[in-house]
Amino acid sequence: MRLNIGIDGPVGAGKSTVADAVAAKLGILHLDTGAMYRALGLTALRQNIDVQDEQAIVDLCGRLKISVSHEADGQHTFVEGEDVTGLIRTQEVGMAASTVSRYAEVRKAMVRLQQKLASETDMLLDGRDICTTVLPNATAKIYLTASAEERARRRFLELQKKGSEESFEQVLREVIKRDEQDMNRPVEPLRQAPDAVLVDSTNLSFDEVVDAILAIVEEKRRG
Ligand code: DC
Repeated sequence: MRLNIGIDGPVGAGKSTVADAVAAKLGILHLDTGAMYRALGLTALRQNIDVQDEQAIVDLCGRLKISVSHEADGQHTFVEGEDVTGLIRTQEVGMAASTVSRYAEVRKAMVRLQQKLASETDMLLDGRDICTTVLPNATAKIYLTASAEERARRRFLELQKKGSEESFEQVLREVIKRDEQDMNRPVEPLRQAPDAVLVDSTNLSFDEVVDAILAIVEEKRRG
């Protein structure tokens, strides 16, 4: 049987890095679905298309070819064959991704692509709607979260390393704003699936989070 694992959770919960480590331990691929929404958000910004203009974004999504590949150094994300991996991690692109992800037609296209990829190979997907929508029959479903302050603190340290001058308060405000937008959008808002296991990483180390998720996966696999 296909091994498919879903990890959902709010911004800054550490989904991506945790998902990478869990997938590596299980010897399966990790699909970062946020990168696809980011690729669309980035393209809208580059082409000066208003992210609030639903029709324009849906049209853009319809004509863009977004694809991913998995290399030794992780996932690479492409727009029309151009590798945009290094361009999609900014706060600005994150906010644009969050806005374009509100549109039903955009979500439909992204979900279709993600389901196709997950049907082709054993895979762990992380995102916002994996357990609720993309993989309703996933082998294991995890909802990974942490307090807003802790998520902001981690993001702040990460941004500082990259030389950003944003203050902690600014980062916290962004985290709260993004939670607001992701949890209250009309289409498939971020929420914990009823059959997902909650992992709160506020007081856990990285290794403890990875081990907790591996234990959940093992338990589910045993049935
Ligand atoms: O996980 P991330 O920060 O890279 O995601 C960027 C945005 O994309 C996030 O704010 C909401 C959206 N997103 C989504 O709606 N569904 C997903 N499965 C993944 C991301």
